[in-house]
Amino acid sequence: MLSRPTSSPHREQMAPEPWTTPERRGTIERMVSFDAVADEYDAGRPDYPEAMFDALEPLGGRLVLEGGAGTGNATRALLARGARVVPFDIGQKVLRKAVDHTPGLPAVAADGGVLPFADGCADLICYAQSWHWVDARRRWTESARVLRPDGRWAVWWSLPYADGEPWFTDYWTLLEASTIARLDERDYDTGADIRGSGVFTNETHSMVPWIREVTVEGWLLHEASKSYVAALPEPDRRSLVEEVERITREAFPDGTMRVAYQTHLWIATKI
Ligand SMILES: C[S@@+](CC[C@H](N)C(=O)[O-])C[C@H]1O[C@@H](n2cnc3c(N)ncnc32)[C@H](O)[C@@H]1O
Repeated sequence: MLSRPTSSPHREQMAPEPWTTPERRGTIERMVSFDAVADEYDAGRPDYPEAMFDALEPLGGRLVLEGGAGTGNATRALLARGARVVPFDIGQKVLRKAVDHTPGLPAVAADGGVLPFADGCADLICYAQSWHWVDARRRWTESARVLRPDGRWAVWWSLPYADGEPWFTDYWTLLEASTIARLDERDYDTGADIRGSGVFTNETHSMVPWIREVTVEGWLLHEASKSYVAALPEPDRRSLVEEVERITREAFPDGTMRVAYQTHLWIATKI
């Protein structure tokens, strides 16, 4: 099932608003681009490590609102642990893929800044690789509103940390020269945001190191699924992916990459 509230908060957000700056408009355009790369996203993104979900327990029987669920990568892992998951996303095409993977999934087209859920309904609200997309002025209070007293909020990101390997330096030099991506965004202090939110407390941060084994083709699909890559005009987008292919094939001549990753998880409790 893919339900959409009749008064669409997403449509509201997409309309020109007085506070919409050029920078913010750019963000909105990039948000929309996930639907444009739904196939690449579905095929190219890695799963999250099980140890990370261990840190999120207890999940069994809990009502989990999963924001920016995309094609359902994290959704399926949460379901496997017995959570009752309601995934939501502003992208209808990515959500349809999640439903294709898990028929009957109660997926909802919704914006994390204006949620169509009742006050106090959820045990946990979480965002896998997607919290940064939600309007920073609305996401905290909206998340707190839909949680029951003592309900939990969690966000996580998996990122490559192959620092010091020459191919990784070349790859990031290329990305920074050609796109808006910046390597130092990995160091963003989510803990400070939680403490400043005024609605969440007792934050914990954990990090799970792991090795991603992926073919060069898989890496390139992941590359193509990135919003800031998808947003490039042709032929710049194609040239970038070709250059990434050159760098990765040279570094991994047998076509299999082993890349150090870290998954960073933050959990906090509703005040
Ligand atoms: C990087 S993807 C992560 C997808 C999935 N959680 C995963 O781990 O593979 C970010 C997702 O956030 C969604 N998104 C962007 N802005 C959003 C918003 N304001 N509210 C809800 N979802 C949003 C995008 O459509 C996209 O599917």
